[in-house]
Amino acid sequence: MNLGRQLEEYLPPQLLSLAQNVSREAGRQGEGVYIVGGIVRDLLLGCPNVDLDLVVEGDAVKLAKRMAETSEVRLLAHHRFGTAKLGYRNFTADLATARKETYPRPGALPVVAPGTLNDDLIRRDFSVNAMAISLSANDYGALVDLYEGRSDLEHGLIRILHSNSFKDDATRILRGVRYEQRFGFKFEAQTARLLNRDIPMLDVISGDRVRHELELIFKEERPELAVRRLGELGVLSRIGPALAGDGSIAERFSEARRLEKPAQLPSLYFCLLVYASGEDDVERLLTRLNMPARLSKAIRDTLQLRAKLRLIHKHDLRPSDIYALLQEYDAVATQANAIASDSPIVRRNLRLFLTKLRYIKTSLDGEELKGLGVPPGPQMGEVLRMLHKAKLDGEVHSKADEEKLARAIYENQKDGR
Ligand code: CTP
Repeated sequence: MNLGRQLEEYLPPQLLSLAQNVSREAGRQGEGVYIVGGIVRDLLLGCPNVDLDLVVEGDAVKLAKRMAETSEVRLLAHHRFGTAKLGYRNFTADLATARKETYPRPGALPVVAPGTLNDDLIRRDFSVNAMAISLSANDYGALVDLYEGRSDLEHGLIRILHSNSFKDDATRILRGVRYEQRFGFKFEAQTARLLNRDIPMLDVISGDRVRHELELIFKEERPELAVRRLGELGVLSRIGPALAGDGSIAERFSEARRLEKPAQLPSLYFCLLVYASGEDDVERLLTRLNMPARLSKAIRDTLQLRAKLRLIHKHDLRPSDIYALLQEYDAVATQANAIASDSPIVRRNLRLFLTKLRYIKTSLDGEELKGLGVPPGPQMGEVLRMLHKAKLDGEVHSKADEEKLARAIYENQKDGR
C-alpha cells in the first residue's frame, strides 16, 4: 500500500517539508527515514495528529546536527541515546535512531542498541502502533506493516506483538485500555487473555511510570471510559484500593470538564477518583505512585475537607464564614468536594468560594494604612483582616468606606488598650 498522496493531504505542508528534508539529508548517507507510531495509525484512521515521530536507520543525532548546520531546520534537543528534537517554522518532529530493545527483567527499563526498522517496530506495544511509512526516495509513501496493524485497525482490534509483551512492560495494560476506549476497539482474544494474566506484573512498575500512564488517560477526551474499564479488569485495585472508585465517576468527571480549566483536570480527576476512599488507602496510593508534593496536598485536602463538610452544610453562613472555613484548602480539593457532595447547600457554598470569594481583596494595602496612621505589626494585621471580612460580607463597597472603617477599627484598638 502506498500512502504518499494521503501524506500530502494529512500533514500540514511545513511538517511534511520537515520530514522530507530529513529524509533527503539521510539519503545522502544511504540511510532510510520512516514516519512511525501513533501518527501512522491516526493517518489511517483519519484522526488529526501532528506529533511527528521519525526513525532513521542510522545515527539520528549526527543526522539532526547535519540538518541544523545545512538548512533552516533547528536542533531543539538531543540525547546520548540517539534521539533528537527538530524544529522547522512552527512545527517540531522527534527523530530517533532505529533501535533494538531487550528487557533485563520484567518491568525494568529496556536496554537499547541500534537496530533496523524491523527491530524498532517489533519492540512496540501494539500492532496498530507498529506501522511505518517510508520517506526514502526509492519507496516514498510505502506502508511498512509487518504485524497486520492495518487489518487490526479495520477490525477494531488491539493486539500485542508477542506473548511476553505485558510481562516485559505492564504499562502496556494501561496504554492498551486507553486506546481501546479512545477508539472504541476490542482486545484481540489472546491479547485479552494475556492482559488478564499479567495484571500482577504492574507491581514491578515504578510509581512514576504508572502515574504517567494514569495522567495520559486523564488527558483523553472521556477518561471515565478507560477508568471504568480498568476498574472492571481489576487493574485499578491492583495499583491501589484507593483507586477503586464508587460508581459515580462518569458523572463527576463530566461535571469536572464543565467546570474546570483543562490544565487542572488531571489533578481534579485524581481527587475525584479517590474521593470515597479511606485515608490509609490514600496514603498508600500516594506512596505507590510517588505522587508529587502539590498533587499530594490537593488529594489530602480533598479528604480533609470532605470530613469537614457538615460545617459548610448550613444555609445561614456569611461569606466571611465560608471564606474562613475554606481558605486553607487547595482549590482543586474544594472543586472536587463541590462536584462530589450530594448536598445542594454545600455545593452552593463551595462554588461561591471558588467563583467569587477567593478573589475578593481589600482596596487598601499596608502602605495606605500606614498613611492613615495605623502602625505596621499585629495591629495592622488585625485591621486588614477585619477590612477583608467586611468586604466579603458586603459591608464596605468603596475605598472611602474602607478608609472610614479602618480608622474606626484603629481608634477602637487604641481605646481598648
Ligand atoms: N511505545 C511502545 N511502548 C510504550 C510506549 C510507546 O511501544 N510503552 C511506542 C508505540 O509504538 C507508540 C510510540 O512508541 O506508538 C509513541 O508513543 P507515544 O507518543 O506514547 O504514543 P502515540 O502512539 O504517539 O499515541 P498517543 O500519543 O496517541 O497515545
